[in-house]
Amino acid sequence: MIALGSDHAGLPLKLEIIKLLEERGLAYKDYGTTSPERVDYPVYGRLAAEAVARGECERGLIFCGTGVGISLSANKVPGIRCVVCSDCYTAVLSRQHNDANMLALGARVVGVDLARMIVNMWLDAVFEGGRHAQRVGMISRIERDYLKEPGGPQDAGC
Ligand code: RB5
Repeated sequence: MIALGSDHAGLPLKLEIIKLLEERGLAYKDYGTTSPERVDYPVYGRLAAEAVARGECERGLIFCGTGVGISLSANKVPGIRCVVCSDCYTAVLSRQHNDANMLALGARVVGVDLARMIVNMWLDAVFEGGRHAQRVGMISRIERDYLKEPGGPQDAGC
């Protein structure tokens, strides 16, 4: 299952990517927004990210004008590694090396054909593990340190 989310600016591209997911026969759940009325991207980045973090969805695709605001919001949810992409190389490497579990696209930045290519390549790319797993583990460690675990930075007075 793929979690989807967007604000009003990202909605047109999300609708195009829904067509792609349907062509590929991939299941998805759309956490909104569904209308062109102006809304706040953190709401929808959070909803989609929480579905991924809870394990209800394996991956997430989110959209706003630039992809920036909604990716920043998603990345505040523990367990989320969201990459904002406007090129295929970054998309593939974000899977192979960083095990990115969410992809954000800017509807005002990338055209539909490029977005489709990026999403296809991101969905098909596989995490390579090995030394990369160790580094991804280090990212998670930073997150845990700031989740008020005993011994985290708050104890050191940072
Ligand atoms: C909305 O105008 C726009 O700010 C939003 O879609 C996004 O680009 C923010 O990062």
